[in-house]
Amino acid sequence: MSIKEQLDTNNIPEHVAIIMDGNGRWAKQQGHARLFGHATGVESVRESLKAATEVKVKYLTLYAFSTENWNRPKEEVDGLMDLLVTTIANEIESLNENEVRLNAIGNLDELPEKCRAELKRAIEKTANNKGTCLILALNYSSKHEIKSAIKKIAESYKSGEIELDDISDDLVSSHLYTAGIPDPELMIRTSGEVRISNFLLWQLAYSELHFTPIFWPDFKKEDFYKAIYEYQNRERRFGLVSEQINDTE
Ligand code: FPP
Repeated sequence: MSIKEQLDTNNIPEHVAIIMDGNGRWAKQQGHARLFGHATGVESVRESLKAATEVKVKYLTLYAFSTENWNRPKEEVDGLMDLLVTTIANEIESLNENEVRLNAIGNLDELPEKCRAELKRAIEKTANNKGTCLILALNYSSKHEIKSAIKKIAESYKSGEIELDDISDDLVSSHLYTAGIPDPELMIRTSGEVRISNFLLWQLAYSELHFTPIFWPDFKKEDFYKAIYEYQNRERRFGLVSEQINDTE
């Protein structure tokens, strides 16, 4: 039986987030420039998206570009931006065919104009799709996201719009880029690094974390299913003890 067939269809995570890591090291291993790794990584984006739509994951968030990534060599940054623009443009048709809705989180205003425009166009063109929502984290920093939320909440408090006791988990969540989107139940990071790297720090509070040594360009559908399979075989306790979770009375 394939790993996909072994999945419990009643326990598919609603939201899966991925740190796509290892493109550079993969390319180096093959004797290529880093950009070749990123370009090959696009195929893994397709694989994971296809896998997510097949098992009906509602939200798939991909960490495509962090605020720290601007510090990479200019050639790589420019190459990544070009790759984003061409990939988004090339994929619109396929996204529509597969009922995928595109969304983006991050400080999008600071992206190059061409990237912003293409992103806006693709988001609009896929807005009515009812299947999986693909969320690209672009120019994203979780600390920045949380800081902005704190500032907005502080302003509401200062103006008397809210009281201290109104500051709840839900209020904070509603001020994040991901407002209205459920927190990921599962976060995958490829390439063997075991870090969160400023990604969805608030939203990952209770997520199951899946770290795999596979470099992103080698990450295929089967690997995505394997991560879900492992997730389904873990016990999510949310701070409780096992007996409380399993007590059916
Ligand atoms: C991390 O690998 C990867 C990135 C910073 C970029 C990921 C981007 C893509 C896969 C292409 C974008 C595609 C779309 C449309 C979402 P790394 O460069 O940090 O690898 P390393 O750790 O081996 O150096």
